Amino acid sequence: MLAGCERALAEVDLDAIRHNVRRLMRDLPAGAAHCAVVKADGYGHGAVPVARAALEAGSTWLGVACAAEAEELREAGLTAPVLIFGPMTGADLERAAAAGAEVVAWSAAFLAEAVRLGAPVHVKFDSGMGRLGVTELEARVLCAGAAEAGLLRGLMSHFATADEADTSFFEYQLRRFTALAGELKALYPDLICHTANSAATLRGPRAHFDMVRTGIAMYGLAPANDDPFKDDLRPAMKLSSYVAGVRLVEPGDSVGYGRRFVAGARARIGIVPIGYADGICRRLTNAGDVLVAGRRCRITGTISMDQLTVLLPGDWGGARRRGRVLRRGRGCRGGRRRARTRHAAHPLRGGRAAARDHQLRGRLRRSAAGGAPLPRRRARGLTVSWAAASTALRRAAPTAP
Ligand SMILES: Cc1ncc(COP(=O)(O)O)c(C=O)c1O
Repeated sequence: MLAGCERALAEVDLDAIRHNVRRLMRDLPAGAAHCAVVKADGYGHGAVPVARAALEAGSTWLGVACAAEAEELREAGLTAPVLIFGPMTGADLERAAAAGAEVVAWSAAFLAEAVRLGAPVHVKFDSGMGRLGVTELEARVLCAGAAEAGLLRGLMSHFATADEADTSFFEYQLRRFTALAGELKALYPDLICHTANSAATLRGPRAHFDMVRTGIAMYGLAPANDDPFKDDLRPAMKLSSYVAGVRLVEPGDSVGYGRRFVAGARARIGIVPIGYADGICRRLTNAGDVLVAGRRCRITGTISMDQLTVLLPGDWGGARRRGRVLRRGRGCRGGRRRARTRHAAHPLRGGRAAARDHQLRGRLRRSAAGGAPLPRRRARGLTVSWAAASTALRRAAPTAP
């Protein structure tokens, strides 16, 4: 066992959250607000500490998915306006109202209940997402009903394709929302119109309206799963572990469940005690990379519940060399149990070095030990992580084996 090594440790850099919020607010029109989306426990980063950091950096709203998440923020003493995006049962709606949260309505029955409970309402217009939400006609009716009760607060929508290169559907949705928002704002001048998620926020002011709601970019990941540094975003989470053992494999030897990695040459395999139960996506099997002692190594073989195996560099010096492991990318959410999380304000920095490392993205090649070629698509989520991890690890790169 190595002294001072955590088996699985997630470190969250709250300075990065603050930086990202300021970055996302940089191009907002004067008076427009930033809603920090902290649903799903702050995308796994910790809803309360992230919410606090975001509010310190300038956010004025918090976005969550359900009543329990709103309650958690209130119990932590946060008094900022909280908007609950998701659908709610009657009991949930009562809890939401009791927590002083604002709610999203897309049916007359839900609106009536919200009015009965005195919860401020944001009407959800479906401009093209094709999930929950109403047509223009219904939105007009719901807004009128909420306004009559003195509880109309907002008109919202959600983009389906803001992170895609083809902007035609984004433009279509934006046109529809712009028209309806203009019309309803003329009737209700205090109406807060909002439709932009991270990707739309980064596309510039045309989609900003009175408020933007950002999640993924606030956590420092690029919405399109490419390079976050190009948008001056700093990944906020680093996930680390250590090399617990080293195994020498000969040609034909296999590693792990399903024998998904078969060595084509003599190689050293590092065994790292972290796995899908800690949030490492199983799809990174034979497709992801980690940094070991500051060097990029391919994950070889199936990711197990609490172990993964990596192909160590040819000149690897021994089993006692310490290494830390990747930060999770967007494609790596999930896992039943998470790594222990530590919130810190340590100075993770992006910058040129990270960008340079990131140029390695896409250079997918047959591994030295003869593993299968790696499909580009499967590696994308992780290569985003690589830049972040390498930045962090450059600071803390272990030296001695
Ligand atoms: C209604 C709503 N707005 C905004 C967001 C934030 O989206 P993103 O993480 O892409 O910024 C979400 C997240 O799922 C959402 O449900």
